[in-house]
Amino acid sequence: MPTDVPPLSPLDDDGVDRAVTAAADAFAAATSLQELKDARLAHVGDASPISQANQAIRSLDKADKPTAGTIMGSARGRVQKALAARQAELEAAEAERVLNEERVDVTVSRPRPAGSRHPLSALVDDVSDHFVSLGWQIAEGPELEHEWFNFDALNFGVDHPARQMQDTFYVGEIDLPDGTPVEGAADGLVLRTHTSPVQARTMLDRTPPIYIACPGKVFRTDALDATHTPVFHQVEGLAVDEGLTMAHLKGTIDHFARAMFGPEAKTRLRPSFFPFTEPSAEMDLWFPQKKGGAGWIEWGGCGMVNPNVLRAVGIDPDRYTGFAFGMGLERTLMLRNGIADMHDIVEGDVRFSTQFGTTGRGN
Ligand code: PHE
Repeated sequence: MPTDVPPLSPLDDDGVDRAVTAAADAFAAATSLQELKDARLAHVGDASPISQANQAIRSLDKADKPTAGTIMGSARGRVQKALAARQAELEAAEAERVLNEERVDVTVSRPRPAGSRHPLSALVDDVSDHFVSLGWQIAEGPELEHEWFNFDALNFGVDHPARQMQDTFYVGEIDLPDGTPVEGAADGLVLRTHTSPVQARTMLDRTPPIYIACPGKVFRTDALDATHTPVFHQVEGLAVDEGLTMAHLKGTIDHFARAMFGPEAKTRLRPSFFPFTEPSAEMDLWFPQKKGGAGWIEWGGCGMVNPNVLRAVGIDPDRYTGFAFGMGLERTLMLRNGIADMHDIVEGDVRFSTQFGTTGRGN
């Protein structure tokens, strides 16, 4: 290699010392790991005077080799030490820099604001607690329901208007991902339009006496506006026993109304029609806060279970009678808490929920 510096002799004790000092100075002067790497290549790389001197030992006279070996061995040892020491310093400084620059100040973060239970979930719990406290059981059924349970078992004729598309979300045939049609899908599946199919399911499953409440989600093809939502909740009540009359129905509803709206609450029944109850009634709630003055306001439907329904589920209508009622829970919440707009209930803004003091679990 052409060079103007005379090659360093492995026997030149002073010259090697100077080369070692120059290397140690260069290492000390390096202010980054990259600079240290450059200094290492320059001072101990293959082309460096120290490496060259080391290699030159091979071509020395045999007698000179031990002396040269001692000089170069010591030189290489000192260079390595200086290099390692500076390497450690720079690595520590680098680690310190990263720690400082990427420091997370844990004292800056504040606890996240707690969410809040939706008042409707709290209401579902209240309603369930109320009926459980009467010794009733909570029953559930599927939201995707067979048309048979939603309509036929409840004595809806095939041409009943409620079956029409404007009310009911029909779910066409459903196939499993592998293409297998689901059994029964061809018979018609619907998103249940009310919680009453749970009546039929429960009566098929259990024998009287039956006392159940079923809170749950129901679906109708309504557009969302201030008083409607296509997905809402109802609670269904069903009692089947010997000797039940409309007086039991009325007492149960009044008791429930007082639990929801306070001791002054009362209901009245107006004759009406549902295919699955006979006689049937609309139940109205006395509502002192009604716009334009206290008055009656519609709360739900009810009636004595139609003997045809009892027969369809294998219960002897000569021995047992039953009563049933159902009401909307959004409506109940709106009446109870003076909520004017359904949008507030369905939009899920936590600022709405927090007003009800239902923070955390179990409020
Ligand atoms: N299922 C009826 C509805 O959704 C309400 C109802 C329930 C009526 C039980 C009578 C008995 O309108």
